[in-house]
Amino acid sequence: MTDYRSKIFNAVKDVLPVEYADVAVSDAFCDYCIPCFKLAKSLRKSPAIIASEAANAVKIDGVEVTALNGYLNFTVDRKSRIADVLNARLGDYKPFDGKTVCIDYSSVNIAKPFHIGHLMTTVIGGSLHKIYRALGANVAGINHLGDFGTQFGGLISAYRKWGDGKDLDARGLDALLELYVRFHKEEEEHPELADEARGWSKKIEDGDPYAVGLFEKFKAITLEQAKAVYRRLNIEFDSYLGESFYVDKVDGVEKKLRAKNLLEMSDGAEIVVLDNDDGQNGKNGEKMPPALIRRSDGASLYIARDLAAAYYRHDTYDFYKCLYVVASHQALHFKQLFKVLELLGESWAEDMVHVSYGMVSVEGMSLSTRRGNVLYLNDVLNAAVEKAADIIEERNPSLADKSSVAEAVGVGAVVFDALYDGRLKDKNFSLADALNFDGETGPYVQYTHARCRSVLAKAGYKSGAENVDADVLATDEAYEVVKLLADFDDTVYSAAVKYEPSFVSRRLVKICQAFNRFYNADRIMCGGKEQTARLELTARVADALKYGLGLVLLKAPEKM
Ligand code: ARG
Repeated sequence: MTDYRSKIFNAVKDVLPVEYADVAVSDAFCDYCIPCFKLAKSLRKSPAIIASEAANAVKIDGVEVTALNGYLNFTVDRKSRIADVLNARLGDYKPFDGKTVCIDYSSVNIAKPFHIGHLMTTVIGGSLHKIYRALGANVAGINHLGDFGTQFGGLISAYRKWGDGKDLDARGLDALLELYVRFHKEEEEHPELADEARGWSKKIEDGDPYAVGLFEKFKAITLEQAKAVYRRLNIEFDSYLGESFYVDKVDGVEKKLRAKNLLEMSDGAEIVVLDNDDGQNGKNGEKMPPALIRRSDGASLYIARDLAAAYYRHDTYDFYKCLYVVASHQALHFKQLFKVLELLGESWAEDMVHVSYGMVSVEGMSLSTRRGNVLYLNDVLNAAVEKAADIIEERNPSLADKSSVAEAVGVGAVVFDALYDGRLKDKNFSLADALNFDGETGPYVQYTHARCRSVLAKAGYKSGAENVDADVLATDEAYEVVKLLADFDDTVYSAAVKYEPSFVSRRLVKICQAFNRFYNADRIMCGGKEQTARLELTARVADALKYGLGLVLLKAPEKM
């Protein structure tokens, strides 16, 4: 597909001191524009004069250049762009070919419920996984399990005192959670329980078969629940190596730190000082607390295991980027992690990215669905699917395969909503809003897709007809759709490099809105070459919606 933005930039940069990012996509008057206001000072001319002089000087094949009110405006020849879109296929664009991207996401904690707090890491990471893969990267999806710590010793103690194997099999994590809560309560009155717990966690570490056996059982129960959610979201992982895998690899990290004279002792603990006075501070010069590598009792810390994991990933995957999709409250941890690697002289430290996100709260779910004050992600999905089933029953009671459509729509509504705003924004999630078929929602996009398919099915149209007359699609409404399809690849690319799946979800809604305007303005079933061209555009929209929905983890039912 012709990249008009680059074409424009390359032509203008010889005439004006502009950057690629100055070429903006425009909805009004033209297709692209460059505002000339900020150039006025350095060029000592008014924006209007800069724009009109440049409009006379710049010549681009297939693009009309004009000046208006201090803007340089570019209008692409409609027919060539339409032909361009009709000749191209989405998904052929592979800018990350041959590159490997590690994505650490979801990263659940053993024996902890898979609650709503895991929604964002799971869907942002899952979506980035699909987006990078679509753009040609090899992706390693890594579930960095929280499977190390004294809490598992406590759980073994609790299980031996009050637990029951049958109950555990029947109720799984709910039973574990109860044991966990009870242990902490009793620990307050019987501090000796803490020693007992430490004893058991030491046994897990030493490989005692009984202790390890129980721990493995807790792990299996946790993963079973998490994997049930992953199946519903169509998410996969390439690795489930958790923190415990790295415990014996911390030695190697200490060796490297020592060799660079970075390891210091402080009250018996090993630390790396990050706020020394020689300017070796955080990325923006701010001071950071030291990184704690090992406690005085010899136990390694979270960051030490993450350092070992970083080396392991570097050695195993030789990554182009290593992403950590983790909530913003761990920002300091990742700053410290990257800083230590930088101090160690690892050039690849700059390829590591903390993909941060805000908090989620849920509106409209009663407390009765909360267990022990946590809201299980699976329960939220179930509630959404139930509501979706009611809506479908109302709108289209004769629909075939209603329950699988309700699953796709309900789960999709939650995921799409989570991925609709920029990831750093805090979210208050409302089931009713997420399921609004007329709002900027997953169901709206899925419904528009199904509507396209039904138009095509009724017409018996197969995409790829030879004789599409591109001129027919030059009406304002049709061309708006064409434009949105034309730079869809570019949108997906931006989503990847900014780690923002919301770019894709927002573009999907725009395509739907434009398609619905086109559908209302230009009658499709009008016979002749008009009909063929409009059906072809409808087919392209349907394919684009399906492709894009897949990138944000949604299914695209053929009928709704
Ligand atoms: N298990 C951690 C948590 O739930 C997240 C782990 C993120 N990944 C990492 N490599 N530190 O808070």
